[in-house]
Amino acid sequence: MIELTGLTKVYDSFTALSDVSFRVDRGDIFGFIGPNGAGKTTTIRILATLLDPTHGSAMIDGLSVVEEPEAVRRVIGYMPDDYGAYDGISVWEYLDFFAGAYKVPRRARRRVLEAVMELTDLDGLRHRLVVELSKGMRQRLCLAKTLVHDPKVLILDEPASGLDPRARIEFRVLLKELREMGKTIFISSHILTELSDVCTKVAILERGKLVASGEIAEIVKALTPHQTVIVRVQGAADKAVGLLRALPFVTDVEARDGELRARHAGDADIPLLVRRLAENDVPILGVSEEKMDLEDVFMRITKGEVA
Ligand SMILES: Nc1ncnc2c1ncn2[C@@H]1O[C@H](COP(=O)(O)OP(=O)(O)O)[C@@H](O)[C@H]1O
Ligand SMILES: [Mg+2]
Repeated sequence: MIELTGLTKVYDSFTALSDVSFRVDRGDIFGFIGPNGAGKTTTIRILATLLDPTHGSAMIDGLSVVEEPEAVRRVIGYMPDDYGAYDGISVWEYLDFFAGAYKVPRRARRRVLEAVMELTDLDGLRHRLVVELSKGMRQRLCLAKTLVHDPKVLILDEPASGLDPRARIEFRVLLKELREMGKTIFISSHILTELSDVCTKVAILERGKLVASGEIAEIVKALTPHQTVIVRVQGAADKAVGLLRALPFVTDVEARDGELRARHAGDADIPLLVRRLAENDVPILGVSEEKMDLEDVFMRITKGEVA
């Protein structure tokens, strides 16, 4: 649905985006993750036809963002990272203005606005002034605005930043509803965990370069080739270390304060490990697995520790 090929953007002499390629399939909720300054907004502005790439191409629904910007704009709903001030107008007037700008036929307009407001939970707020809305409400209004022309693809630049936890959860629910309506969603964030439970796939960007893309579980697996089983024992540490080392899947063992850390390549047979220790009368107090969580992985990647 969205395809970036060798996308590059040079501002004056500064390369903000360097040879970025990846693909977003129809129906994905695709997370575009990277720390501040990584080049997310630059990429998104190119996709939204507001900025020309220096090299490379970007296609949305088979249309080139450079060659067919008008057609691309009809297919996408773009939510920018800052959305201006519309102080003196109400929620309804705001949406009506954008419906007009997107040439939603006047006859259909009321019905479209009602539907969009219901979806984004704004129905009760139609007469409220935009300036009076909370951040969460304003974010929903901004999303409502991007929906008035019923786009196939939503391109959302850090929509969840600055939301309180409750508003964030509501926002995720809304994204899932939109996906069920058949929309493809491309959404950026500087926090991986903010999106990890809603996204089907992600691309991770750092200093203008793509460092990983694909399914989150696959990325985590690729970046954490080693895993650790932690066994707590009562005494008998030396004996236990010897027994663990003798297991075929254990690559290394470290002992520290009654805690044994057995490393493996993701293929540990934990029942066998426990049995082996028990058979040899090692008093086991506990067995657990150390897993790298997403935040750890993200921190590792974006510090450039992983090439
Ligand atoms: N118009 C511009 N001129 C020069 N440099 C820019 C311009 N816009 C963005 N940059 C630089 O490009 C880099 C990427 O910015 P941006 O795409 O906004 O990143 P992100 O959205 O990931 O925070 C940053 O270093 C930023 O300072
Ligand atoms: Mg940005």
